[in-house]
Amino acid sequence: MTSKILVLPGDGIGPEIVAEALKVLNVFKDEGSLAFELEHAHIGGSAYDAEGKPYPESTQALAKKADAILLGAVGGAKYDKLERSLRPERGLLAIRSDLGLYANLRPAILYEELANASSLKPELVANLDIMIVRELTGDIYFGQPRGIEVLPSGERRGFNTMVYTESEIRRIAKTGFETAQKRNKKLCSVDKANVLEATELWREIVTEMSKDYPDVELSHMYVDNAAMQLVRAPKQFDVIVTGNIFGDILSDAAAMLTGSIGMLPSASLNESSVGMYEPIHGSAPDIAGKGIANPLATILSVAMMLRYSLNAPQLAERIEGAVKRVLSQGIRTGDIYTEGCQHVGTAQMGDAVVAALRA
Ligand code: IPM
Ligand code: MG
Repeated sequence: MTSKILVLPGDGIGPEIVAEALKVLNVFKDEGSLAFELEHAHIGGSAYDAEGKPYPESTQALAKKADAILLGAVGGAKYDKLERSLRPERGLLAIRSDLGLYANLRPAILYEELANASSLKPELVANLDIMIVRELTGDIYFGQPRGIEVLPSGERRGFNTMVYTESEIRRIAKTGFETAQKRNKKLCSVDKANVLEATELWREIVTEMSKDYPDVELSHMYVDNAAMQLVRAPKQFDVIVTGNIFGDILSDAAAMLTGSIGMLPSASLNESSVGMYEPIHGSAPDIAGKGIANPLATILSVAMMLRYSLNAPQLAERIEGAVKRVLSQGIRTGDIYTEGCQHVGTAQMGDAVVAALRA
């Protein structure tokens, strides 16, 4: 079967890192181990520039036909003054919502070669392997009403709504429990049930569902404590399941434990196995076009794509193995560079992974 992969390079460093990920995919095409067709489309600021909207119909039509989507990143200062509905980030939220990609898997794995690049002491992060399961299509990101209004006094008031329905909580909790079952069988549900009703309901439902997963040890943690525990003793976690906004914040914190946010891939899945794969970092406009961005998070996102959407787990493992070998050879982009290593740019890092795959 020939899979349809839609490529959405996006903005900033997006096109540079996606180009390296495609080099890696093409290794499998060349050797005949994977049959796929690529389509390219715009999203975010580049879509606004080309078609006047961050998630144009042309992109939507291709997205609906794709088996998997590879996305770089969206956003840039030049779009910050646009009307809100036209901003790049809205394009990303729109495609997540349009395709029903409610389950966002964000693994935080420390490659032992990078222990010295972590902001924490090596012993606190050695062998770190956490999976954050972030709900991606609900919460305050999508809740209505939202906006900025002018009060009678003339003062402006910004407002958003945190909201979760029972069914939204159930389906992401199911992903959390099932993910834990495949790993070390520990699930920590993160909420703010002491203050926010939306997450009081979250805690109630997750607790009730735990009866169906007697093999999984469930714990609950308030998000402030979870943030603290992540930087105090991160190895206590196996799988974390949480809502959209808390997951956004905690996954950036977890990323830093692994040495660099430039290392972490993600998968966003819907009820079928269609998925969108993207690095968790952003478009990094400050380094865009310089050829210095770390492409490994995007390359590792391709591995997740092979595992979760294209049913090729053995190819996923080959990519992960190749990345490990490259790191053990001491090859590093600037964000993960430590003394004595070989400092390379984006394309050289991609080439190194390709060479390791072919070896
Ligand atoms: C992420 C990003 C996005 C989010 C932004 C770019 C809209 O931070 O994927 O974590 O908040 O979800
Ligand atoms: Mg984020």
